[in-house]
Amino acid sequence: MAHGYERHDCEVLVIGAGGAGLRAAIEASAAGARTAVVMKSLLGKAHTVMAEGGMAAALAHVDDRDSWKVHFADTMRGGQYLNQWRMAEIHAKEAPERVRELEAWGALFDRTADGRILQRNFGGHRYPRLAHVGDRTGLEMIRTLQDHGVHQGIDFHMETTAFRLLKDGERIAGALCYERERGRFVVFRARAVVLATGGIGRAYRITSNSWEYTGDGHALAYHAGASLMDMEFVQFHPTGMVWPPSVRGVLVTEGVRGEGGVLRNRDGHRFMFDDIPENYRNQTATDPDEGWRYVIGDKNARRPPELLTRDHVARCINREIKAGRGSPHGGVYLDIAWIREKLGDAAREHIRRKLPSMYHQFKQLAGIDITVEPMEVGPTVHYIMGGVRVDPETQMSDVPGLFAAGEVAAGLHGANRLGGNSLSDLLVFGRRAGLYAAQYARSVSDPTLDEDDIQRAAAEALAPFERDGGENPYALQRELQDLMQDLVGIVRTEAELLRALEGIARLRERARNVSVGGNREYNPGWHTALDLEPLLTVSEAITRAALERKESRGGHFRDDYPNKDPQYGAFNLVVRKAADGTMQLERRPLAPMPEELTRIIEEQK
Ligand code: FUM
Repeated sequence: MAHGYERHDCEVLVIGAGGAGLRAAIEASAAGARTAVVMKSLLGKAHTVMAEGGMAAALAHVDDRDSWKVHFADTMRGGQYLNQWRMAEIHAKEAPERVRELEAWGALFDRTADGRILQRNFGGHRYPRLAHVGDRTGLEMIRTLQDHGVHQGIDFHMETTAFRLLKDGERIAGALCYERERGRFVVFRARAVVLATGGIGRAYRITSNSWEYTGDGHALAYHAGASLMDMEFVQFHPTGMVWPPSVRGVLVTEGVRGEGGVLRNRDGHRFMFDDIPENYRNQTATDPDEGWRYVIGDKNARRPPELLTRDHVARCINREIKAGRGSPHGGVYLDIAWIREKLGDAAREHIRRKLPSMYHQFKQLAGIDITVEPMEVGPTVHYIMGGVRVDPETQMSDVPGLFAAGEVAAGLHGANRLGGNSLSDLLVFGRRAGLYAAQYARSVSDPTLDEDDIQRAAAEALAPFERDGGENPYALQRELQDLMQDLVGIVRTEAELLRALEGIARLRERARNVSVGGNREYNPGWHTALDLEPLLTVSEAITRAALERKESRGGHFRDDYPNKDPQYGAFNLVVRKAADGTMQLERRPLAPMPEELTRIIEEQK
């Protein structure tokens, strides 16, 4: 019996409606392409809102020494020079224009005394660079893009998950999706597809990502024949909530440290002063007062060590906890209340104004008043630097007509992303993906859909209903999260990675026997069963790449190879699906950098 489906035709299909997806859809539609957007959740519910502290752009409103060149050099240094340099260059050059455009579309940024967009400090950025709206910047960005996009005739499909990309020969032809509410299949025929599905956080137990982030776009692209790159680099944001258990992993914005928050261990010691990396030594304060002067805008002061890059801060916190110097619930202390020593009574008002969400989050979820007490925080999986390998100009993958932007795309951030670079990434490369997808769509004819492919994929999606008494999808997901958290976490070893690979293979075997009850109408058990495949695919890719990279760099730390090894600085690791269905790893040499950019990096050192 053939499986029924509803069919939609469009020119550009965008999968995902966070910052990158919305920005891509706006651009594709403005370029004249018939554009549809599908999203797993509701419009406005995206991980973009978890980029709270701001978007990085060298506007130079707070420190006039800033420029695209310094931003470019900071991004490359933060990414430990594995970044796709052309993406880092485009990003640094175009981010200011994208921020101003967002303002013109209605985003209400915090202001300087003379009325310009205010910028704050963040880890790894040499100057105050983050345009922000209190600690709700991602939310303001989504609100603005939604308001702007909703009037453009874009066809939005909420609570619709993409299950398989469809191809016509080598080129992309659309996607088979299912509506979560009614369980019905929807086929989109499209000349171009933009993946903007975000990350993979739900492969781990402790994460700032909500339930949607199961690596869907990574896996869709991989199975369609695209390459994934840099998958070993997973970002642990240093500060997530650790207590109460129900909110473990919820983000505590880096904006707290940007506004002067300091990290202390159980003994009250500011442990970040204990380990300052060589390449940041000349910029980092060695005494607390000097660091504080930087926070309040003294151009000659050096930055506090709490504003080193996320990979480093997360490892320092991990070290304190492992050494038994942590807080009662297994974190460390993040203290912003101490600024009362500097600002007096005005401090409480300052904290509530600059960090209103953090104030409410801790008050309501943990019963803590952050204007008088420290928070308990610990690392939480926040972001993956790895993703679909794309052309730096157009964002097109190895598959003709398949584009990717935002977290699901690799290249800009290299081995570690600087906080705040994600929101500007979404705007810069979301726009480019939409523009070039529309351009590509104009240059090709409508693809032909293969009915057999559609029927095979639909049967696969429904298979869990056909089995009785099989594996429980929730239990399998939980086991995978535990495995990734415990064996492929902040600190990795060969023995643990090998155990992880075996465990993933066993889980994959069991996932083939997953069964669900009930019917197709809103059935979260079925949805969880379908999320297993992408989760297993990204977990395997992360683990294989982590095994292959026998050194420590950025978000990837190997206890058995604790140093950076220059030979590993010469290539990216690329993952592809081989003809026999196995996962293959390849070392792809970095593209040579033009002399002008090398000079900029040298000058900025
Ligand atoms: O801490 C934060 O506000 C997160 C920002 C980001 O990931 O870019």
